[in-house]
Amino acid sequence: MAHNPSPRSPTPLIAARPPMPLTGKIRVPGDKSISHRALMLGALAVGRTEISGLLEGEDVLATAAAVNALGAHANRAGDGRWTVDGVGIGGLTEPQDLIDLGNSGTAARLLLGILATHPLTAFVTGDASLRRRPMGRVVDPLSRFGARFVTREGARLPLAISGASDPIPISYHLPVPSAQVKSAVLLAGLDTPGTTTVIEPQPTRDHTERMLRHFGATVGAEPIDGGGKRITLEGHPELAAAPITVPGDPSSAAFPLIAALIVPGSEVTIEGVGINPLRTGLLECLREMGADIALLNERDEGGEPVADLRARAGALRGADIPAERAPRMIDEYPILAVAAACAGGRTVMRGLAELRVKESDRLTGIAAGLAKCGVRVAIEGDDLIVEGAGNYPAGGALIETSLDHRMAMAFLVLGLAANDAVRIDDAAPIATSFPDFLPLMNGLGCAIRGEA
Ligand code: S3P
Repeated sequence: MAHNPSPRSPTPLIAARPPMPLTGKIRVPGDKSISHRALMLGALAVGRTEISGLLEGEDVLATAAAVNALGAHANRAGDGRWTVDGVGIGGLTEPQDLIDLGNSGTAARLLLGILATHPLTAFVTGDASLRRRPMGRVVDPLSRFGARFVTREGARLPLAISGASDPIPISYHLPVPSAQVKSAVLLAGLDTPGTTTVIEPQPTRDHTERMLRHFGATVGAEPIDGGGKRITLEGHPELAAAPITVPGDPSSAAFPLIAALIVPGSEVTIEGVGINPLRTGLLECLREMGADIALLNERDEGGEPVADLRARAGALRGADIPAERAPRMIDEYPILAVAAACAGGRTVMRGLAELRVKESDRLTGIAAGLAKCGVRVAIEGDDLIVEGAGNYPAGGALIETSLDHRMAMAFLVLGLAANDAVRIDDAAPIATSFPDFLPLMNGLGCAIRGEA
């Protein structure tokens, strides 16, 4: 069945400085990137894949609905526990209705990769945010496999895709560092004879490669000059169902983590967080800013490294964040900018062009929101510069979240350390990635509430 989210009314929220430090031990929901991939690869494997810790946010539920509309069987067995009965590579069937992927760019781009080498036609759309986002970055390489597309102007959704019946393997040099584009190409390569190659100038998250290997595919990854990688996939592998344990999402953990750093006296532990080195750019930045963060109990769970993160509040200082680090923390800039606003001194975040094409234009949105909260901030080219006063920002503003979950959560966290409470116009998008954000944060001692 197509995913048809019911239209919802906006949910304004207000966050103020809590009366006490934040304390406690929590778990954040499952990793969004890994959850999408578990459902999609499960749908293409032979046999039943058992998943635990799946993120049950709207984005991932849209992917579950999509794989079911394509003839696989993804079913909820309990809290975060799902089974997927796969149809085998090339075994998906034509959906009878439009596929609606809601707010999720990852769902849209990865699914288009899979559909590109299935000889069927599908019509794909999403919410107002997703319909604004560029799909040309996948339409271009997937067309080279032989898929055909009809899109709106600027390669936007809704679009129609007819997959190739005799796909040709490609070698593709990523024009932007994007794990979504890399993954779309690799997934198209599954039902393609020969070797599909992706060259990435800067390494991006490698969950697709790891999970493909976990299911039995042959995926090579070798370093190339300049720090990038050449990734190869041998076509027509036998994908065999395999159990998957989804770690806690480091991009979700970032919100309580930074809340703990900026609310004086706090100490918070977040258990079972994924620390894949291609996702830990934020932790490096925070350490450079002088944050007290400990990685405890490091272990491996289902092919991904995991740890408990313990954060203690303390003074932060500004830092210079290099552009090369951006792919390893691309979703964390809204919340890093909040930490920078509370730090002493200047933080420069370089090379943020990709932030303009996320769920909203985050580069513009972060700068506008911080300025409204009394923070000195500037955009220079693709760089964001935040002048931290080393004290509580003024706050007292209403922030537009523009259907962007991470902007909503970031500015609520800012409210926890602002002189005057911060309001956001709509918290509903938070349900795409972190449905329990509010009870979980308030359980630590935060004061985030709806307006009376
Ligand atoms: C993701 C890749 C990133 C990230 C997104 C999830 C993924 O997007 O922003 O939230 O799961 O592959 P890009 O590939 O567009 O950088």
